[in-house]
Amino acid sequence: MFSENFVWGAATSAYQIEGATGRDGRGESVWDHFCTRPGAVHRGEDGAVACDHYTHHAADVGLMKEIGLQAYRFSIAWPRVLPDGTGAVNAAGLGFYDRLVDELLKAGIEPWVTLFHWDYPLALYRRGGWLNADSPKWFADYTRVVVETLSDRVTHWITLNEPQCFVGLGHETGVHAPGDKLPLHQSLRVAHHALLAHGESVKAIRAHAKRAPKVGWAPTGDIPLPMTESAEDVAAAREMYWSVTKPDVWNHAWWLQPVLEGRYPEDGLKLYGAAAPKFTAEEMATIAQPLDFLGLNIYNGFLCRRGADGRPERVAYATGHPQTHNGWNVSPPALRWGPRFAHERSRLPIVITENGMAGHDWIADDGVVHDAHRIDYLRKYLRQLRQARADGVPVEAYFAWSLMDNFEWAEGYRYRFGLVHVDYATQRRTLKDSARWYREVIRTKGEALEIPVRANDAVEG
Ligand code: FCB
Repeated sequence: MFSENFVWGAATSAYQIEGATGRDGRGESVWDHFCTRPGAVHRGEDGAVACDHYTHHAADVGLMKEIGLQAYRFSIAWPRVLPDGTGAVNAAGLGFYDRLVDELLKAGIEPWVTLFHWDYPLALYRRGGWLNADSPKWFADYTRVVVETLSDRVTHWITLNEPQCFVGLGHETGVHAPGDKLPLHQSLRVAHHALLAHGESVKAIRAHAKRAPKVGWAPTGDIPLPMTESAEDVAAAREMYWSVTKPDVWNHAWWLQPVLEGRYPEDGLKLYGAAAPKFTAEEMATIAQPLDFLGLNIYNGFLCRRGADGRPERVAYATGHPQTHNGWNVSPPALRWGPRFAHERSRLPIVITENGMAGHDWIADDGVVHDAHRIDYLRKYLRQLRQARADGVPVEAYFAWSLMDNFEWAEGYRYRFGLVHVDYATQRRTLKDSARWYREVIRTKGEALEIPVRANDAVEG
């Protein structure tokens, strides 16, 4: 069951929806720059206009209210606040978030602020970016500026969004901004500085918050799903979740253990060998700041069992396994096992900071977007989240990704993740069936998950 105080929300990020990249003194981010690289982004698209949320924010808060959202997770564009990344504050940029927070609170929606969702200031990248040993301090200074302005009203803070992605895709494979392909020892240095930045940011939030803050972060990763519920398979999946098996940054343990336990995983140190970063005990203590909740962005899972050699092994999905429109395997039990494995070891309350699916949604002749696939996807995942709660995992909130269709990074605008459809030519917003269905889920505190849905049930809600 979802309790009375379970929080239902939706999430977005600054570069994916705001547009207005040249307005009111905003500085450039690595994403502005990356999008100009030929071939970097699908069809050469960019976030210069996106959903023009910068202009339409008040109406967008109106849509959130219509859906009945209790909370809204959005990110702050660092270069909008500090155009050079450090130093002079851009009052107009900060003012935008100030107004947004007021609008949300007026609508009865709790703001959850993400401090970094990948739009790193270009000026700082030119000074070495995350490779520069000063980068954690830069992030802490920026955190302080935001917290000083918003923390009289904002209490929920998320430091970094998906460090695995901005390090792995941004600095290791070069698929995301800034588009670097660094050798392993340098990506691990970037990772170390990102972890330190997280720790310094938590410290800055606690030092400057005007109201008692709730602080977390939002790592991601594919969840190993036990093939069966046998103790053996569950143990194999848990072991897989907490291990580092490949020489890259795509795992949970390298990120979670430093933050939760103040140490890098032994298997990772062994595997990375000379490429592992040098660190001090003091740095590890900085990284391991106490948190109030653990955010998890969860989309994908893969099957796992105990192999013949005694080690956990991946098992391929059967041919024809359902996939979302960007080819991600539909894997609802990820919302049961992901929170469980993370909580067992961290003992922290869990928040699902992102979950949702890409669809090729369009407005039908009756003026509505019939995204039955998304309703089914969300229902299946949420039922598994409910199971996690029944298993005893304290899951406190859920944020659907995303409030509205938006700029999906290197994929441009080809995939739609929203509960709300956006016509990019006119900026017209249309609530999808899934938004109406989600409204029922929120209104009934999850009871609507029980109701079998026929094709059109959701439309009436
Ligand atoms: C996550 C990102 C988010 C969005 C979704 C689909 O990896 O945090 O910005 O792109 O995936």
